[in-house]
Amino acid sequence: MKPDIKNVNSKNIVDFIGAIFERRGGEEYLGEPVTMGQHMLQGATMAEQSKEPDDIIIGALLHDIGHFTSEFGTFSMEDKEDRYHEDAGAAVLEHFFPKVITDCCRYHVAAKRYLCATNPEYFQKLSAASVHSLNLQGGPMSETEIKEFERNPNLKKILTVRLYDDAGKIPNMDTPSFWHFAPLVQKMVDSHCSKENN
Ligand SMILES: [Fe+2]
Repeated sequence: MKPDIKNVNSKNIVDFIGAIFERRGGEEYLGEPVTMGQHMLQGATMAEQSKEPDDIIIGALLHDIGHFTSEFGTFSMEDKEDRYHEDAGAAVLEHFFPKVITDCCRYHVAAKRYLCATNPEYFQKLSAASVHSLNLQGGPMSETEIKEFERNPNLKKILTVRLYDDAGKIPNMDTPSFWHFAPLVQKMVDSHCSKENN
């Protein structure tokens, strides 16, 4: 059954996200050899295998959740492909997760534009679909945009999650399901929401 965003709280947000992975995760990730669910699970799995801290694992796991904008009641027929998915995802996550997680979601497209402008090798390694969407997303950052972006205190984490985002495009890689990560996600939600309420 499709969950109702209006009834989401700190006790059921993890199930809400898990249900999205289950019902929608099999959808195509346009132009990539993996589904959307595989893509996010691969990034999270690689981060976990590399013993990254929880915020990097969860950032990688959730960074593209906004692709399922219809789940959040924010979908509009006027939406252009790949335009607001980072904002849509962050708008839901910000109620339950610390800023570093919402920043990793909100700025993962900006991170690509930043890395393309500052690291020539990065651009060479981008997938064809990612190069295509880069053009729709404004191309590499300008000098002014770079300076502005570098002021974000979560810059390093945002860039690290971006690298897992780019890595999570491997056909037939085995990963655990979303539910493997669910306890870690719940721990972060509980910790964040208990601070918010105090
Ligand atoms: Fe992604």
